[in-house]
Amino acid sequence: MDALNRLFAQNRQWANSITKHDPDFFKRLSEQQKPEYLWIGCSDSRVTANQIVGLQPGEVFVHRNIANVVDPDDLNCASVIQFAVDVLKVRHILVVGHYGCGGVKAALRCERVGLADKWLRHVEKVKDIHRECLCSLPDSGAQEDRLCELNVIEQVAHVCSTETVQEAWARGQFLMIHGCIYGLKDGLLQDMKINVASAEEAPRVYASAVARYQSTAE
Ligand code: CO
Repeated sequence: MDALNRLFAQNRQWANSITKHDPDFFKRLSEQQKPEYLWIGCSDSRVTANQIVGLQPGEVFVHRNIANVVDPDDLNCASVIQFAVDVLKVRHILVVGHYGCGGVKAALRCERVGLADKWLRHVEKVKDIHRECLCSLPDSGAQEDRLCELNVIEQVAHVCSTETVQEAWARGQFLMIHGCIYGLKDGLLQDMKINVASAEEAPRVYASAVARYQSTAE
């Protein structure tokens, strides 16, 4: 139980330090959450949503799974998006990939890890779509990095195509979808310059992002 005791002790310390600076912090938060962002990222323990972008509890709604996949048929992810957009009225959805992603690596190399293989078929699909580009790269490191990037682009497109997002745009609700990628080696979050604010511009933004990231010169 020592491992857990450490967590409880750290939790008390953390809660105390917040209350010291802001005595009403938890009371206020307990009454409502009003996050401006939905973060869709990888489950990787090194890519923590709040910490990386310096957000407090209450400021970001989070969905994480292996390799930050958005499958419109995945009830879990679709429900998170629906709740975030329709109920919480988030204004920005960030799809956050990261370099060095174990899930992306496994999909690229067709490594078998167990049950998760089924989930990683989503990333294999991305690999198949962009096979030509990936094969043109000089080594497996470059291919891994590129697949991490292309995976973000494809998952952003999936977010845009969800019923929830399409309906929000149709009724004029402000909602912007973004693609970012995080570097484990430097702790920096990179703007991939994929920003979609309407159904009309989604295909154009997708095409230009793919063109940019498919060019080996990048
Ligand atoms: Co990952």
